[in-house]
Amino acid sequence: MMSNSLTVVGAGVIGLSCAWRAAEAGLRVTVLDPAPASGASWVAGGMLAPVTEAWPGEEALLELGEHAVRRWPSFAEELGAAAGQPAGLRTDGTLVAATGTGDRAELEALADFLARLGREVERLSGREMRRLEPALGPDVRGGLLVPGDLAVDNRQLLAALRAAAERAGVEIIQRAVRAVLDDGTRVTGVRTDDGDLEAGTVLVAAGAHSAALHPALEGLVRPVKGEILRIAHRPGAFPPPKRTVRALVDGRPVYLVPRDGGGLVVGATQTELGFDTEVTIGGVRDLLRDAERILPGIAEYALVESAAGLRPGSPDNLPLIGARGPDGLLVATGHHRNGMLLAPVTADAVLALLRGEAVPEPVRAADPSRAALAGPAGSAGFHPTRLARR
Ligand code: GLY
Repeated sequence: MMSNSLTVVGAGVIGLSCAWRAAEAGLRVTVLDPAPASGASWVAGGMLAPVTEAWPGEEALLELGEHAVRRWPSFAEELGAAAGQPAGLRTDGTLVAATGTGDRAELEALADFLARLGREVERLSGREMRRLEPALGPDVRGGLLVPGDLAVDNRQLLAALRAAAERAGVEIIQRAVRAVLDDGTRVTGVRTDDGDLEAGTVLVAAGAHSAALHPALEGLVRPVKGEILRIAHRPGAFPPPKRTVRALVDGRPVYLVPRDGGGLVVGATQTELGFDTEVTIGGVRDLLRDAERILPGIAEYALVESAAGLRPGSPDNLPLIGARGPDGLLVATGHHRNGMLLAPVTADAVLALLRGEAVPEPVRAADPSRAALAGPAGSAGFHPTRLARR
């Protein structure tokens, strides 16, 4: 064990998952966040989608994501029992839809790439897609069925994590952390808006804000803005799909993730504009236009919410999970588009590190001392996928 107390900076899905598991393992855990569970985790669509987020060159991320999606059912069960409320896991699977010829070629390329790696996905015609999800419109010309890509209601998940963490004795303090302090060798504490606090082990899980907290993290995480909409079925409108629907519409990606009670999260734009969380007219327009091409019935739905969050992007799109900098400093950040998916395995890995054990094999690719992080952020390349990224 590194020490018997843990200070977690950040109460998003990663910070709360790690805090809950560490407290259950017997550590005294404090979480610091000026606005718990309100950042990217609150805005997220909640896809647990390693296969439909896959991209050539990111095989380690695919492997990590597949390890993570297999871990999800047991994690959801453990969390539900610990919290006394459901974790929000949905197991209906994912459909990927294409409209024009170029979009279908793009999906073929994804299917071929996956087949080369030994992951077969089922190709469907437009008619077969509509048989599975009658809400799909006539512009959908074909696509893929990926039953293993799941989803979670991010807000149910956050509520369950907070409840489980608090039941396990985690103290959540609403305070901003400005820096992690050290004596040149090991961590000594954290500087908050309200004075310095001593700390034994510090876990930085502050998402897009992580890089500013210690010189050892400088330049390793950058904010990648994403805008989403929440829409809701109204009486008389065409029922929503059961599965997550991802689509390419004239080259633009869009996804629609079902929620209980007829809700859908429509996402997401992807832009790099620093720490900007304003929702733009253009973002809303693009999301609505593309979503309606895929599910024409949503024109009759209620528009309930628009929001923007900041994904924590890393130079190679893999997260940073492990030790970096002075003794006692752990990081769990840089999860980019996959924070929900990777939360359970991140918590497993952090727990292993706190116990002085090796992290599970697929998580080793996320070691924060890996070579790809040697240069400035972005230097290892930021691979824009047509399916996943605008
Ligand atoms: N994982 C979906 C997104 O980041 O938009």
